Amino acid sequence: MNIQKSILTSGFLLFLIIVLMSCKQEGKYQAFTPGELWLDNNNVHINAHGGGILYDNGTYYWFGEHKTEGENGNLANVGVHCYSSKDLYNWTDEGIALSVIEADSTHDIAKGCILERPKVIHNKKTKKYIMYFHLEPKGQGYEGARSGIAISDKATGPYSYIRSVRPNAGHWPFNAPEILTKGPVRVEGAIFTGGSLSAPADSLNILGRDMQGGQMARDMTLFVDDDGTAYHIYSSEENSTLHIAQLTEDYLDYADKYARFFPDRFMEAPAIFKKDEKYYLMASGCTGWAPNEARSAVAKSIWGPWTELGNPCIGIDADLTFHSQSTYILPIQGKNSQFIYMGDRWTPNDAIDGRYIWLPIKFEGDKFTIEWKDSWILNDL
Ligand code: DGJ
Repeated sequence: MNIQKSILTSGFLLFLIIVLMSCKQEGKYQAFTPGELWLDNNNVHINAHGGGILYDNGTYYWFGEHKTEGENGNLANVGVHCYSSKDLYNWTDEGIALSVIEADSTHDIAKGCILERPKVIHNKKTKKYIMYFHLEPKGQGYEGARSGIAISDKATGPYSYIRSVRPNAGHWPFNAPEILTKGPVRVEGAIFTGGSLSAPADSLNILGRDMQGGQMARDMTLFVDDDGTAYHIYSSEENSTLHIAQLTEDYLDYADKYARFFPDRFMEAPAIFKKDEKYYLMASGCTGWAPNEARSAVAKSIWGPWTELGNPCIGIDADLTFHSQSTYILPIQGKNSQFIYMGDRWTPNDAIDGRYIWLPIKFEGDKFTIEWKDSWILNDL
């Protein structure tokens, strides 16, 4: 009798373990719920703000700014956090991919610097994983406007910091008007003060001012085209103008070919994707951590001409991008025309609590649109 009982008990336990294991495999999330807390495998709110996604070998990797609690939570006190997922709903904490340097307060990425909007791409030729980010060395506010570069042999890291640069020093963009390449530089007044300049960017010739030392590079993203060519897209010229710069074949440097777009449009938070041989851009206006109305644009070549398409968001709160700011537009693997808008709902008073706004992208002719959803699934795309 006792033997029968213990067989039954062990059978039941085994059954329970199998049920629990299959639940675990399925994951706790089966839908996106924008704006809600989003817990990782350890039940901790995902900490990857201003992020981007790398798809590599069957797995999505999400890299973003690790924010901290309390005052100065937007400073880089820890580094770049990485998470992995197969289904995009459930994310496993892969730890800190790039750590800030604690031992040397003069280091480019010293603890307390500003390290924003990290993006990672994989170089198929060199097999390296390359990370770019917007870097502001410690204690200098946002005046540095530099690009940081790091490298790893593994998607999840650890990444080794290589260097930071002001891109394209000594080179004019190939579409620079003569008024800039031949014209004078006006230094006074050429300082950005919250979304505007004292005069149109071209009359100040910020491009010319930064020609020798390298161009300013703040909000940024990376884009790898179908032919493997990679581009760095960043807010430049005191945020007034967007630059698109080609990277070298190893993705570790600038190929000295770049162009400038949307002068005086003060576009931040750029995200680029490609569908049916057309390039689409989404960006925000320039209002610090506060949300604003997004913009979108389309082009047949990444080098333009770019045509603005207006605010892609529709419905309630569309004028504030649903209280978020773009950071990346994620192509779904294996689906030709499916993309997810990834945005940040910043909470500067408690940066670590910042929420993620992921929403489906829909297409209407040449335009794309984004509409709010409390909850949605990949099948809705
Ligand atoms: C807006 C940018 O998009 C963010 O990445 C960050 O730099 C904030 N400005 C800082 O105010």
